[in-house]
Amino acid sequence: MKQFLIAGNWKMNTSPEEAAKLASAIRKGIVGMDLSRVGVLLCPPAINLLPVIQISSESKIKVGAQNCHYEKSGAFTGEISCEMIKESGAEYVIIGHSERRILFGEADEFINQKVLSALNEGLKPILCIGETLVQRNDGSTMKIVIDQLDKGLAGVSGKQSESIVIAYEPVWAIGTGISATAEQAEEVHSQIRSALRVLFGEKGNNILILYGGSMNANNAGELLIQKNISGGLIGGSSLKYEEFLSIIKTAGELSFK
Ligand code: PGA
Repeated sequence: MKQFLIAGNWKMNTSPEEAAKLASAIRKGIVGMDLSRVGVLLCPPAINLLPVIQISSESKIKVGAQNCHYEKSGAFTGEISCEMIKESGAEYVIIGHSERRILFGEADEFINQKVLSALNEGLKPILCIGETLVQRNDGSTMKIVIDQLDKGLAGVSGKQSESIVIAYEPVWAIGTGISATAEQAEEVHSQIRSALRVLFGEKGNNILILYGGSMNANNAGELLIQKNISGGLIGGSSLKYEEFLSIIKTAGELSFK
């Protein structure tokens, strides 16, 4: 039996009102589902964290931020700290998403500082890693992914590894409608699993490894059934509540197989 985490990455979408509506619809929609082995996570834009946290209180839904700064406070216009995220009531933070790496120039060392800061504040970091199409085509997928993993997790202790989540997100599959096939995804996930065992021993077996990149209601089943795929980090399909609920339902069913 598997443990799953189904996470919605809303990116720069939803007004406060839309965020509240979407969270309410998801809260209502999961009533009656057996989610004893499935976590549900919503990651709205920072400005909508509080309304989504309020709506999700005393429900199965957890809330996370999409980014953070590693300093606690100070002159960093436009940034939010892990301490602020934690105090808002959120539990997770997405770190090193490829959009942050590519569009905002975030490097592995900077990402690693954020991971360590999140862990120190008691947040669960979701470290995103993944190759571009050029890298896949030139055969360097595994090298790139494992390098991002090692650098992103530098200095993370065995104890802290209990709080981390990894998201494998091939850049070419994000927002393109072209998901990795289940075989392509599992091939990388199993390498990530081995690398986590090298880093953390037996504890590496328990770390959730999410797949992200055009996961939707149609392909979720074949992806989630793979041995080393422990959930999804879902962009586009997490904004349509029926689609997102359908993925959660699929995970619920597969979690007992
Ligand atoms: P997508 O995004 O599901 O829209 O491809 C996934 C992500 O970027 O986390």
